[in-house]
Order: sequence, then structure tokens, then C-alpha cells
Amino acid sequence: MRAPDTDLPIVLSGITVKAGAVTILDGVTQTIAAGAPTVLIGPNGAGKTTLLRVVMGLAKPDAGSIVWGNRDDAAKVRRAIVFQRPVMLRRSAAANIAYALGAAGVPRAQHETCIAELLSLVGLDALATRPARKLSGGEQQRLALARALARDPSVLLLDETTASLDPAATKAIEDIIRAVAGRGVKVVMSTHDLGQARRLGGDVVLMHRGRVIEHGPAAQFFAQPKTEQARAFIAGELLV
Ligand SMILES: Nc1ncnc2c1ncn2[C@@H]1O[C@H](COP(=O)(O)OP(=O)(O)O)[C@@H](O)[C@H]1O
Ligand SMILES: [Mg+2]
Repeated sequence: MRAPDTDLPIVLSGITVKAGAVTILDGVTQTIAAGAPTVLIGPNGAGKTTLLRVVMGLAKPDAGSIVWGNRDDAAKVRRAIVFQRPVMLRRSAAANIAYALGAAGVPRAQHETCIAELLSLVGLDALATRPARKLSGGEQQRLALARALARDPSVLLLDETTASLDPAATKAIEDIIRAVAGRGVKVVMSTHDLGQARRLGGDVVLMHRGRVIEHGPAAQFFAQPKTEQARAFIAGELLV
């Protein structure tokens, strides 16, 4: 579980996404390098989810390019994404992971070992046989992380994974993100929780109206924002 050198950095150049007359991403140029999580922040509608979908390959840019490390074929990059409201299959927690392993092409003989490892990584060992839809919100998010990790991704994309979770559930997710990043998986995540961006961020990308406003190391971004918009956003003022 780590990002091969060949997959990073992810170099986004002039990524533009339109929906009809609306420009959702407006020429995003951003390099996402190896290291601690890259955290996307910004007001609702800034384009964070759309950018994650583009990186995942779920949305096709109208203009611009993405280059992954020194690969010529992005399809080979092992990516996984966890959405804000993951949909659980109507079966046990373990069976949800088994399904993901099958979809990722992991041989059936390895499933039992992989399921045990993944459940342990996300702290759900005791809930393996529990129907997934009966898990709490935080547990479902942890299961969603385990399912995503079943693909053995080199890049893990997380969209507002802790939105609507309480502090204890949020901490459990943050601990998993730290563990996964510590194994060398590149995490790219969006959050509306600035404390979380500070706690987890290697670097922070502030987006507004489909553009990158400011990018920098997390500590520097929060202590010495370079733009008025970043200063205002950190201060809790509304960016409109
Ligand atoms: N398929 C779509 N058609 C029209 N507008 C869209 C579509 N998808 C997203 N948008 C709009 O694009 C903007 C950016 O959306 P999004 O990427 O979800 O931002 P964020 O995740 O930062 O809140 C929002 O104003 C949203 O309403
Ligand atoms: Mg979003």
C-alpha cells in the first residue's frame, strides 16, 4: 500500500469543467506532490468535489490535462474515492469489503486475510458480521475507507469524509487517514473543517469559484496567508 514513484506528482494544468453555461472549474493548475495529505478547502460550490471527481477520472475536463508522475497511461494509476455519503451494500461489513476485493480483482483465496487486515485497520474487527446499513454514520465511513483501500490505491481521494460526524467519530477517521498516509498512500481530501486541514494537511489548497486562490504548506498557509481571501477564509469570514 503505497504510491509508486511513477504515479506522483499529479500535475493538473488548466483544468476546466463546464456544465452548460456554468464554469465549475476555471483553469485549475495545481501540482499534487507525494507526502502528507493535500487538503482542499473553500466555500460550498468552490469546485472541490468536481476537482476530486476529475482526478478520479469520473468527470472529464472540457480543457486541460492531468499528468501522473511519469506514466503515459492514467488508467493504470490505482485510485479510490470515498464520497460524503457512501452507499453500503445490504449485507455485512465483511461482505461489503469482500465485494470491493472482488471488484478489484483480488483472488478469492486472499479475501479472508485481506478482510481481516482492512477491518483491523479501520477498527471494525468486532463488527464484521453486522449488517453494514445498521452501522453508525462514523462506522459506515470507516467501512467506506476499508472498501476504498481494498483496491490497494496509490492515491486515495476523500470528499468531506467527516462532514456530519461528531468529534469522536471524526478523530477515528483522522487516525485512519494518518495511518494510511503514513504507509505512503497519497491522500487528497476536501474538508470544510479548518481544524482538520491544520491537523492533517501537508499542504492546503484554497479554492473559490472554480479557481485555486492559494496553495502552500499547511503551517504557512494558516500562519501567514498570502492573499486577502485566504486571510478572510481562515478568519471565518464569508467568501462570496
Ligand atoms: N452537473 C452539474 N451541473 C451544473 N452545475 C453543477 C454540476 N455539478 C456541480 N455544479 C455546480 O458547480 C459548483 C461546484 O460544485 P462542487 O464541485 O460540488 O463544489 P464544492 O464541492 O466545493 O462544494 C457548484 O455551484 C455546483 O452547483
Ligand atoms: Mg463538495
